[in-house]
Amino acid sequence: MKQITDISSLRNEIDNWRQAGESVALVPTMGSLHKGHMNLVSLAHEHAERVVVSIFVNPTQFRPGEDFAEYPRTLATDARRLARAGADILFAPSSEEIYPEGTEQMTTVSVKALSEIFCGAARPGHFDGVTSVVCRLFNMVAPDVAVFGQKDYQQLVILRRMASDLHIPVNIIAGQTQREKNGLALSSRNQYLSKEEQKAAPTIYWALADCRQQLLDGQRDLDRLEAEGLDRLHAAGLDPEFFAIRKASDLSPPKADSQHLVVLTAARLGAARLIDNVLVEL
Ligand code: PAF
Repeated sequence: MKQITDISSLRNEIDNWRQAGESVALVPTMGSLHKGHMNLVSLAHEHAERVVVSIFVNPTQFRPGEDFAEYPRTLATDARRLARAGADILFAPSSEEIYPEGTEQMTTVSVKALSEIFCGAARPGHFDGVTSVVCRLFNMVAPDVAVFGQKDYQQLVILRRMASDLHIPVNIIAGQTQREKNGLALSSRNQYLSKEEQKAAPTIYWALADCRQQLLDGQRDLDRLEAEGLDRLHAAGLDPEFFAIRKASDLSPPKADSQHLVVLTAARLGAARLIDNVLVEL
């Protein structure tokens, strides 16, 4: 595996692959890699001959007062794991490489309405930071395939919309959420949870799973299901931001005949903000 920090070396390597007729997958990450990320790397290998993993803790998607400074940075360990997993390139650029003119006046990519609801309402500007950096990464790598985790479901929908609106020819694939045995979705931010909070945190998944089951059983009172989800999270000591049943394709409210749904939630627990979702096929 080659570890690269500058765009021109990255492009040279990828040009060589292209000349040999090889396809390329990109797995964008912020590092602190866990089993969930490694699953995305395996998925990338299934879809392309070459795999680039980027590690960049992107400052523009953190709001003032959020955990940008504390976000775990474990580059050496991450690099060893990626080499063992057969990644071809680890691209770990500096902020100056990605944003050569700084971030104040930078060109921003914004997927308007979708970025202002749910997580975007709690973290204004967050998704503009995500789309702005992922668009740059797409321009640098020009991947055939890009792999993102389903856990960040709203991010996934927004990135698909960005690629479609900007005619970026990339196939965006979602990797299944990896979970602890107790149901808690793996996340780099789980390490912010205390021992006590770790016991309460899986409620987030069980509330979603229960809502899915009720939908599958024919319950169609969505307001009631959403209120029950919020109550359950409150009862377990979490501070939920939203618990919502939406169309999986674009997060709009479901119609009576909608078949592909997603139930998504975010809740605060101590220093952590946890997000999770489940898909429901009716
Ligand atoms: O999901 C993440 O880790 C980040 O939002 C991403 C897609 C790598 C952009 O910084």
